[in-house]
Amino acid sequence: MGFQIAIDGPAGAGKSTIAKAAASELGFVYIDTGAMYRALGLFCLRKGINIQSEEDVTACLQDAEVDLDMSGGIQHVLLNGEDVNGYIRTEEVGMAASVVSRYKEVRAGLVGRQQKIAGSQNIVMDGRDIGTVVLPDAQLKIFLTAGVHVRALRRQKDLEMSGKTADLKEIEKDIEERDLQDRTRKESPLVQAPDAVYLDTSDMTISEVTDYILNLAETRMAQGREL
Ligand code: DC
Repeated sequence: MGFQIAIDGPAGAGKSTIAKAAASELGFVYIDTGAMYRALGLFCLRKGINIQSEEDVTACLQDAEVDLDMSGGIQHVLLNGEDVNGYIRTEEVGMAASVVSRYKEVRAGLVGRQQKIAGSQNIVMDGRDIGTVVLPDAQLKIFLTAGVHVRALRRQKDLEMSGKTADLKEIEKDIEERDLQDRTRKESPLVQAPDAVYLDTSDMTISEVTDYILNLAETRMAQGREL
């Protein structure tokens, strides 16, 4: 097994920014598992499938092949062979991903694929259940979070940078709704793994968080070499 870093946490905690930066510094592969749930959410929205129906979503799984293409060092999510990176970052798709990710069969398929991708590579993987389910033996697990208001402000800034405007209260409401859904679902809810390091990034900059994780990773890797 390679050196695995699992980063979990609620929506908008900065997981992907931090995980990407840490992976790049370490020369590790970075996998954003949320993108796979988003691709499936997009599939259901496009096909007009009732995402509130577990039966309907489960029945369509055989028609939705979700995969990752890592060539060129950037993760591309493929939905039945189509690169859907440009369509999955909307609030609507995020919410659909959160809904379909509640279902057992959905998780079984995607978790298996994520474990296969991880294989024996050195990897940084982020999501909701990485430290608890996907990579339970990861050498470093981080539970990354921040206050709802801070997460909403960060999201608003991201939206503004891409030329969009959004009401802060609306964003806060979306974040709270998605948190509640991800934390209270029956299958693999968002919880901190007992051996994960808890990190509240509300008052930290991106580089402070990245450095903190890199230091932890270096320490754990050195410990691994001594064993
Ligand atoms: O990280 P994200 O916002 O792109 O994830 C979108 C949704 O996908 C999230 O609200 C819950 C689900 N998800 C999951 O259940 N398990 C993961 N490992 C990653 C995401």
